[in-house]
Amino acid sequence: MENFELKNIILQIQPDAIFVLTDKNTHRFCLPLLENNLQNVDYKEIIIAAGDENKNIKTLTEIWQFLSENCATRKSLFVNVGGGMISDIGGFAAATFKRGMRFVNVSTTLLAAVDAAYGGKTGINFNGLKNEIGAFAKPEKTLINVDFFKTLDTKNLLSGFAEMLKHSLLSGYALLNETLNFDLEKFDLTELDFLLQKNILFKQSIINQDFTENSERKILNFGHTFAHAFEAFFAKENPVLHGYAVAWGMVCELYLSFVKYNFPKDILLQINYLIKTFYGKPNFSCKNYEILYNIMLHDKKNAAQTINFVLLTQVGQPKIDQQATKEEIWECFDFLREN
Ligand code: GLY
Repeated sequence: MENFELKNIILQIQPDAIFVLTDKNTHRFCLPLLENNLQNVDYKEIIIAAGDENKNIKTLTEIWQFLSENCATRKSLFVNVGGGMISDIGGFAAATFKRGMRFVNVSTTLLAAVDAAYGGKTGINFNGLKNEIGAFAKPEKTLINVDFFKTLDTKNLLSGFAEMLKHSLLSGYALLNETLNFDLEKFDLTELDFLLQKNILFKQSIINQDFTENSERKILNFGHTFAHAFEAFFAKENPVLHGYAVAWGMVCELYLSFVKYNFPKDILLQINYLIKTFYGKPNFSCKNYEILYNIMLHDKKNAAQTINFVLLTQVGQPKIDQQATKEEIWECFDFLREN
């Protein structure tokens, strides 16, 4: 990765020390790809255990401890090399150590590149709740190189692609058509790169309007009300990748959009077909509806016992803070299972 920008950023910032955060996988598979950029650079590496279950206060304390023992200052630079787990916990560690040091995200998964590493959401899980403790803190830069994605399996690529599909439905027909034309059988990384740049521009345009998610940014939660319920429901026995849950959640929320706002049926059916073909169907029955509904009811993003959705009146026309009846929600589960 000769032309990767990390080297230039280090030259520009001239930090007094550099700390690189990796997990056991990115240490092994991704850090070697940065060799050119880190040649003759004096840095210290912090390697943590991989997996969202380690995005917790214990790991965070280990990172703070390391920074403290190695005399990090506010003039040091923190480099997160990894997926969303790394940019979340690393961003939070950097944002809070000595009230904040600069950090750069090097995204090594498609999901992080299209979602977690952009937009400044950082944090850890706490008390059994995802991202319960955190802060909005902007990275100095988010660096992406699709060469990293060669280390990913198809499921992880598809997981990231679901968030791209989400952006395209929120953005409009131009991006949606380009996204639907992307060949998921081939997964060509050069083509993906073009599409990814457009996704990042779209996400940036939303974040620039509403960094701390008081209004416009909420549209990025499209598909996620159902998705969080699916993730929580399957978590213990048979965990699903985030993007798979988002894909199924989008089918449900598009169906709800069709029922409540007459969202175009042909697009609903086209998206449903794509998702069924590449992501399959979640394994649940009508006996599980009540429990899924209860998970949705207790989602921390709700206010006063209402379940909030982002719905689309048309491609590219989202509406935030929408509600639905229990019957309507159950109908969405039926649609997802039966179509
Ligand atoms: N993942 C949605 C957001 O960054 O707001």
